[in-house]
Amino acid sequence: MLNHFEFEQGSLTLNWDDGRVTRLDVLWLQDHDPAGRHDNGQRLISVLDLDWQAGIHAVDRQGPELVIWLTNGRQLHYSLARLNQDCLMTQQDDRCWSGKTLWQGDDFQVPAVDWQDYIGRDDCRHQALAAVADSGLVLLRGVPCEPGQVLKVIETFGFVRETNYGRLFDVKTVVSPSNLAFSNLGLGPHTDNPYRDPVPGIQLLHCLANEVDGGENLLVDGFRAAARLQAEHPEAFELLTRIRLPYRFSDSQADLRSRVPFIETDQAGKVLKVRYNNRSIAPFMLPFEEQRAFYRAYRLWAETLSAPELALTCRLEPGDCLVFDNTRVMHARTAFTDGGRRHLQGAYSDLDGLYSSLYQLGAAPC
Ligand SMILES: [Fe+2]
Repeated sequence: MLNHFEFEQGSLTLNWDDGRVTRLDVLWLQDHDPAGRHDNGQRLISVLDLDWQAGIHAVDRQGPELVIWLTNGRQLHYSLARLNQDCLMTQQDDRCWSGKTLWQGDDFQVPAVDWQDYIGRDDCRHQALAAVADSGLVLLRGVPCEPGQVLKVIETFGFVRETNYGRLFDVKTVVSPSNLAFSNLGLGPHTDNPYRDPVPGIQLLHCLANEVDGGENLLVDGFRAAARLQAEHPEAFELLTRIRLPYRFSDSQADLRSRVPFIETDQAGKVLKVRYNNRSIAPFMLPFEEQRAFYRAYRLWAETLSAPELALTCRLEPGDCLVFDNTRVMHARTAFTDGGRRHLQGAYSDLDGLYSSLYQLGAAPC
């Protein structure tokens, strides 16, 4: 709670009991005036309504409120609890890697929640969604092995992100000497669909059948990989946050394009999103002087993501539905080495819907 405050004409300084010091411009105080918001929380004023000539005339603590008199005669009434919350908000970004669990390799236990618990109990649903926010993934076990069920899983926390592939996609491979219907090749660590703008934030893979040898999913925490790259090769990390590469997917139905960096950071330099998908990088051009440094950084990023000690092996069994953050967790697949049926159904959703459900369940993700 508030310990003490000082003010001058243009600013108010709040000293909190926990040692935080927050200094607020008088413009911020006008803009965040609780009276300037509708009961539904939406702001009723715009930046054009702020009085740039107004200063602070007096401040008084009155019970649970801080009352501020401005030189233009206006009074602002702030709840101290709300003010404390707002000041904390400015220091938190629940999408960036701060405060999250960064994991690596098989030492990490994938958070798992039983489907019946998930749909029947709010605390278990919260546990599952909080795991996605904190570590980037959760495994739902015992999800009914029915085609289309993956869409019903999405409807428990958000909305289906329909794409030109449809509402869901089949990863269905039959390995047979006479009929290679689909590829059984391995795939390196990647994030999906970087050519979409915005990229789908959540991916689901629901296993309906898995009778093959091999075909395990490998998962890599892209935040952990980015942290390692930053520690070992800060100049490469910096370059990859700055250079925006073009991505493209085109066929007879669509021509999707985006331009994004491998690593996205916030204004404080904290990582928000990572991506890697060499298959869909479009032709790009950089100034000659930057080309070699870029390729060095690009190679270091690929090497880091491929480091065996970072990969977590996850074999999906029928009824397993893996839900993961496609802006953070890279997925890969080992090659199949034997015959049999393997059928996954995948679908996309968005991060905002998942976080919305998490907030409604009543607690901060981390
Ligand atoms: Fe993929």
